[in-house]
Amino acid sequence: MDFKRIGVLTSGGDAPGMNAAIRSVVRTGIHYGLEVFGIKYGYEGLLKGVMIKMDARSVANIIQRGGSILGTSRTPEFKTKEGRKKGYEILKKNNIDVLVVIGGEGSFAGARELEIEHKVKIVCIPGTIDNDISGTDYTIGFDTAVNTAIDAVDKIRDTAMSLERVFLIEVMGRNSGFIAAEVGLACGAESILVPESGCDSKNLVEIIRESEKKGKKCSIIVVAEGDESGGAFRVAEILKKELNLDPRVTVLGHIQRGGSPTARDRILASRLGYEAVNGILHGQTGAMVGIINGKIVFTPILESCNKKKSLDLNLLKIAEILAK
Ligand code: F6P
Repeated sequence: MDFKRIGVLTSGGDAPGMNAAIRSVVRTGIHYGLEVFGIKYGYEGLLKGVMIKMDARSVANIIQRGGSILGTSRTPEFKTKEGRKKGYEILKKNNIDVLVVIGGEGSFAGARELEIEHKVKIVCIPGTIDNDISGTDYTIGFDTAVNTAIDAVDKIRDTAMSLERVFLIEVMGRNSGFIAAEVGLACGAESILVPESGCDSKNLVEIIRESEKKGKKCSIIVVAEGDESGGAFRVAEILKKELNLDPRVTVLGHIQRGGSPTARDRILASRLGYEAVNGILHGQTGAMVGIINGKIVFTPILESCNKKKSLDLNLLKIAEILAK
């Protein structure tokens, strides 16, 4: 192996478990004799050359912490050829042989371009609460986000029951309904609206009518932010108009991105960080490391950002049947 020095950065929306992944990359790298540099604030920090040499102690006591100790960013400049050229030159100047990118789809797209244009060796680790990345069953942060949202929805159900109200709860998921589907099923939602299935407002109106007929006093509808209806406030308007209801809306928002990672996210992050470094040592670059059916899989970066991961719509059907 001719790699000596690797860089690691977190990019895009932070996700609980990113710190566990940084810790894993740093300590595995050091274990195998590599020098590891932490690049601050994602691609923005790369473009400014803000990096620090990490040692084993620099990642002490972070496995349980949300956010990213390296900081993260969404960096429009990195979407340009000039920006990426600058990034490449900074990596070269600092003798960084391989870059580990922890982030989501947008971050991987930047990584892929950097690889094509400048032959930079890159390994990606999927870290996003959205779970919308092909090549892995789960992304780092998804499990924590789902559990955070479940906790909130359970609390909302208490008040929904007491005041006999319909609640629309919007969860994150810009283009995908993975969070909505799992939260809805786990909270016994009467209906779940996700971008993958289109917004069937007629069906929703029917479900609520039926629930009322069956003597249900309250309903919880989970709406993914990317749902084609335009979000929970829009759906509330539909219900007001069609059913003369006065539903309440709660947008859970960024609370879903914070907090201490669950056991599942800590373990996933630790495994992926370790496997990413192992992959580097065995020439597995230009790829994203993921876990499918319990097995480590390396997927070409292009495929991980271009192929749409499909949501199992059966989850929605099960939730609907079980809510009857
Ligand atoms: O990281 C993914 C995500 O949390 C999406 O679910 C959400 O749409 C988006 O980030 C929000 O981004 P920002 O923090 O920039 O508002």
